[in-house]
Amino acid sequence: MSFSDQCTRSDPSEADSAALDREARAVLHTNDRGGFTVPSGTVYPFLWNWDSAFSALGWVHMDIDRAVTELETLFRGQWDDGMVPHIQFLGDAGGYFPAADMWQCPHDPPSSGITQPPVAASVMLALWQQGDDPAIRARLRALIAPALAWHDWFLDVRQDAASGAILTVHPWETGRDNSPDWDEPLAAVPVEGLPPYERYDDTHLDAAMRPGKHDYDRYVALLLHGRACQWDAPTIARTSPFRVADVGLTAMLARAHLDLARLADAADMPDIARRLRGDLPSLHRGLESLWNEDVAAYCARDLRTGQSSGRVTSASFLPLYGADLPPERVAPLVCHMKRMVTRARYLLPSLDPDDIDFEPLRYWRGPVWAVVNLMVADGLSRHDEPMLAARLHADTRALIAGSGFWEAFSPLDGSGTGGDCFGWTAALWLHWLSDSAGASRIEESRS
Ligand code: GLC
Repeated sequence: MSFSDQCTRSDPSEADSAALDREARAVLHTNDRGGFTVPSGTVYPFLWNWDSAFSALGWVHMDIDRAVTELETLFRGQWDDGMVPHIQFLGDAGGYFPAADMWQCPHDPPSSGITQPPVAASVMLALWQQGDDPAIRARLRALIAPALAWHDWFLDVRQDAASGAILTVHPWETGRDNSPDWDEPLAAVPVEGLPPYERYDDTHLDAAMRPGKHDYDRYVALLLHGRACQWDAPTIARTSPFRVADVGLTAMLARAHLDLARLADAADMPDIARRLRGDLPSLHRGLESLWNEDVAAYCARDLRTGQSSGRVTSASFLPLYGADLPPERVAPLVCHMKRMVTRARYLLPSLDPDDIDFEPLRYWRGPVWAVVNLMVADGLSRHDEPMLAARLHADTRALIAGSGFWEAFSPLDGSGTGGDCFGWTAALWLHWLSDSAGASRIEESRS
């Protein structure tokens, strides 16, 4: 089967696409908690940072006011130091672990003490471009300073001075919780004296799809380390037993920084725009530092040992989204993706199917995630690879049309994995995949 033949299989008809539009809207309404959208009512019953940002992209197709409110709620959780937490424990959901009482962050609203990928500024730009309502634009303009403060927090406390790459102190911050990128650095995290705890995730989901106990113990140990540092970000960044430079965080911050500069230009804030653009070379240098010549891909690097993960994951392709790459970087990435086309029915697996640890249904160790596909498709378009970008679009569409609004999907047979009735999957349908999404795709948000 040729590359382009595969693109068109099981594409939904116009009527199906309209039915999926209705279903996607219903998912967002079901998950709406008044001002914010839960990723999934059963599995993730609070506000998650990058989920909320992507949900706003869906809301914009129903109610732009509601879309802006989503971002305002997200930034209402911002800490005094600029960090925007990965979870805000808004509302009540008994039994969740680890909940606010475990994190013990001195902050209101109660939140976790770590962050998540900073995609909000890119979404702000996309919302700005949806229309010229002065009231909406004034509200988006008011979010520029908080977004800048969050980005500055990354640059101040999380940018590795030597390489320019952005480092993480907890796998959950990267959004790719159990990626094999973290296996080795995580194995070195001490877990002696860990108090007993009861998980919530594997009682609500098939445990076979979730991270195992070995990993979960270490997630909890890292949480307790932050708590012992009283959530002082510079202390945590200096002393954490887990310090890994992440390709995804570096690429998404670089892109969000550029998008914030574009937004500042549009909002007539030229000084901010200039300053933001001035930061970009160091982030691009950070990405370049993660290039692994042996595998010809961008890979995570353990900053404690200097060791590259040597793994090709879906994050390896995010530099296409985050920066303008030279041909000698683009060509090997395209080669990897074309190889994956022959191994997996649906792009983009979160781990190379040729990797020994590939598991098609276990979260970030194989399944396809719609939000990553959106960003990588954008990156491919920017680098004049329209066929592969179209392939990602067609595959994501076919996955949702075939299985529904799942959290993620098997790249082998398209079956859904994780939670269903999932917020960001529904939002991306409306924004990127539906017949009615038209010109509003994020990849057209370039200016
Ligand atoms: C999982 C994902 C993470 C996401 C969260 C809520 O933890 O790994 O990226 O933000 O679920 O959907």
